[in-house]
Amino acid sequence: MTTETDTGRLIDAVAEGVERGSIPATIFGNADLHKRELRNLFGRCWTFLAHESEIPAVGDYVLRKIGEDSFIVVRDEENGVNVLFDACRHRGVQVCRSDSGNTSHFRCPYHGWTYNTKGNLVGAPLWKNAFGGMPKEGNGLASAAKVESYQGLVFATLDQSAPPLKEYLGGMAWYLDLLFGLNEHGMEVLGPPQRFVIDANWKSGADNFSGDDYHLGTLHRSVWEIGAFPVPFRENMMGYHIQASPGHSLSFSMAADENEPGPKFFGFPEDLAATFDTTNISREQLDVARRSRVFVGNVFPNFSLLALPMTEDGANHAPVGILTLRVWQPHGPGQVEVWNWFAGYKNLSPEQKDRAYRAGLGTFSMGGAFEVDDTEPWITVGRTGRSTAAELLDFNLNYEMGMPGIGISEPVKDWPGPGKVQWTRYEEGVQRNMYAFYADMMRAEPGQWPSLTFADKDNSAKDLPAEGGRA
Ligand code: FES
Ligand code: FE
Repeated sequence: MTTETDTGRLIDAVAEGVERGSIPATIFGNADLHKRELRNLFGRCWTFLAHESEIPAVGDYVLRKIGEDSFIVVRDEENGVNVLFDACRHRGVQVCRSDSGNTSHFRCPYHGWTYNTKGNLVGAPLWKNAFGGMPKEGNGLASAAKVESYQGLVFATLDQSAPPLKEYLGGMAWYLDLLFGLNEHGMEVLGPPQRFVIDANWKSGADNFSGDDYHLGTLHRSVWEIGAFPVPFRENMMGYHIQASPGHSLSFSMAADENEPGPKFFGFPEDLAATFDTTNISREQLDVARRSRVFVGNVFPNFSLLALPMTEDGANHAPVGILTLRVWQPHGPGQVEVWNWFAGYKNLSPEQKDRAYRAGLGTFSMGGAFEVDDTEPWITVGRTGRSTAAELLDFNLNYEMGMPGIGISEPVKDWPGPGKVQWTRYEEGVQRNMYAFYADMMRAEPGQWPSLTFADKDNSAKDLPAEGGRA
C-alpha cells in the first residue's frame, strides 16, 4: 500500500523521467495513483462523451461515463445537450437504466422522483402528502460543470475552472478540423458503440494512440501478410509526429507529395473525396488531409481517433477509409472498458457506409483481426505495473525514441499547422508529451491549470522564433 507521499513521489518521477525518456512502470497499476487520476484528470479535463449524431432528436439520450461515474447525455426541448449526473437527488439511486433511448422524463425506480431532460425535478408520487411546500428547484439532477461540442464531438468537464473546450484542445482543434470538417456535410456515427473490457490500464490505449507506430512492424505483421493495408511498413513509418499542444498528440503517415501513388484522404472513397473543399477548413488543412494515409491521435486524457485505409479481407476487398473513435474508460487501475465507434461522412452512400463499417469491424473492433494483437500486450503492461518487482526494482520503461541524437527523427520547421513536429514516425515525443501534461495535471492544485501552450515555442513555420531555429 502506498501513501500520499509515495503517490506524490511517483508523479514527480514521471515529471522528471519524461525529460530523459523514462517512465516508472508502476503508473500502469498503482491503485493510489488511480484514485488521484480520477480526481485530477477525469474530474477536471474535458472528456469525450458522445457524438451529436447519436442524439439527433429532442429527448434522445445515451448513458456515458466521466471517469468511473455515469452521466446521462440528453438533448432537451430547446435542442441543447445536457450532461446529468445519473444519481437521484432523493437517495442517490441510479435513475437511468438503459444505455440509450428517447424520453421526455427520467423517473427514479426507487420512489419515483421524476426529472425532465434538463434534469429539473418535475414531480414525485403523492407530492402533496410527501413534499407539499418543498420547492422543486434545487432538487434536480446535478449537471456536469460545463458541456461543449467541437466538430460534433460532445465533451464535458466536472471542473468549473476548466478553460473553454477550444482552448483546452489547443492545437489539436486544427487537426480535428481536417479530419471532421472536410466537407459541409460532416460526420455521423455508424451505429452504436461497441464496448469490451480488458484487464489493462487505460493509459496503455492513450499511449498507443498518441503515436506508437513502431509496434506495427512487429505486433501487426499480419496486417501486411493478409493485404489488409495498402502502404508498405517502411513507407508507412514516413510521416509526422505532432505534439499538437500539451497532452494532445497525433501521428500522420503521409505521402511525400500529392503526386506519390497510394491512398489519399485516409483512403476515403474517391467520390467522397471529390466533395472535400475549403468551406470549413484552410487550404493547408485540406492539403495535409489529401496527403494523409493514416491519422492516429489522442485527446488527453482518454479520447482517441484512428483513420486509415483497411480491409478485413485483402483477397476480395480493396482497403477503404475507416474512422474509429475510442474512449479508454477506466475501471479501477487494472481494467479498461474500450468504447469503439465507427464514424463516416454523412454523404457516403449507404453501401459505402456499410463497407466502411464492415472493414472496421473486421479489423479494429472487439472481434477484429488486429484489435486482439494490441489488447494482449496491454494486459501484460498492467501486470508489470501492479508487480512487486516493478516497485522494488524501481523499474522504469524506455521512452527515448527520437530524443536528440537517438534515431533518425528530426524536427520539422516548415509545417503549416500548430505544434511541435517531427519527421519520421520513429519517435516517442508524442507519448512524452502525454506524460508531461499528465504529471502537470496530477500536480495541479484545485482551480489551477497547467499551461495549455508550450513554454518552449513549437517548431511549426508560423511560430518559428525570429532567428529561425528551434526554440
Ligand atoms: Fe430516487 Fe427515492 S431514491 S426517488
Ligand atoms: Fe496496434
